[in-house]
Amino acid sequence: MVSVSQLGYVGIGISDEKAWHDLATNILGMQVVPGDDKSTSYLRMDEYHHRMELRLNGSDDLEFVGWEVPDSAILQRVAQQIEEGGMKVTAGTRDEVDDRRAIDLIKCVDPNGISTEVFWGHPVNQQPFHPARPMSGFKTGDMGLGHILVHARSLDESVRFYRDLLGFRISDFTDVNAPGGKVRLAFLHCNARHHSIAFIEAPRAPKRINHILFECNSLNDVGSGRDLCLSRGVPVAIDLGCHMNDHMVSFYMANPSNFALEYGWGGRTIDDASWQVEHYTAFDSIWGHAQLRDVVASMAPGKK
Ligand SMILES: [Fe+2]
Repeated sequence: MVSVSQLGYVGIGISDEKAWHDLATNILGMQVVPGDDKSTSYLRMDEYHHRMELRLNGSDDLEFVGWEVPDSAILQRVAQQIEEGGMKVTAGTRDEVDDRRAIDLIKCVDPNGISTEVFWGHPVNQQPFHPARPMSGFKTGDMGLGHILVHARSLDESVRFYRDLLGFRISDFTDVNAPGGKVRLAFLHCNARHHSIAFIEAPRAPKRINHILFECNSLNDVGSGRDLCLSRGVPVAIDLGCHMNDHMVSFYMANPSNFALEYGWGGRTIDDASWQVEHYTAFDSIWGHAQLRDVVASMAPGKK
């Protein structure tokens, strides 16, 4: 079994490019990189050409996810694992590979309908990354872009796909009895980041994506980002707190596509040699995240 090594990039369908660029630069601190045509632009947050691709297509949802592998040999082995697991694999088109600025990629559709790409050869921008607002930059590197929380049609099918076909390891499971029924989550890692993808079983959720996390290099970046949200009228969906499982100190802001962006610092890392899968039976954070319990409980099976 081989594993993908990191969350390389995500593609988001948007309907308001100006608002996205304003949020990305003036609050998050990312750089906008022009795309090849008017309907595409990129967001840069480290030495990669981009970590996010924005497509002006009105979907306001996650369009595709790119998982990086070190080289073509590992790419072929991952493709083989996916096919042996009974899922269809196709080669990326020349346009797709060029669009991602990668060397090669393969594609399949995950159990939640998400276009899932595995690629190698990310383009390095040799010019140092300069945040677009005063902040100390993002913790990416070997741990990748950050993490995504996906609304799963089936938690078990999602875990099977990412663990058994892409090589992820389980960080923890959360099962909580809420007034509307049991809410189930799973958190998975493919490198030292506590989780690069997580699932909440919510088959009726209107969007595939719940939130994307960006981890900053300093706690002050999180605090100053929150100040900017308050002063510029960007809604804070879940206020400051520290998560029980990954120990991330973070808050969640709204974005123009109406899902959340988590802005955090200080997440703990995982050593596979000693990690033992954890089980949580409550939503509570170590402190703060005041709105989290209600947000998660609203996704219980009996809630609309
Ligand atoms: Fe998160």
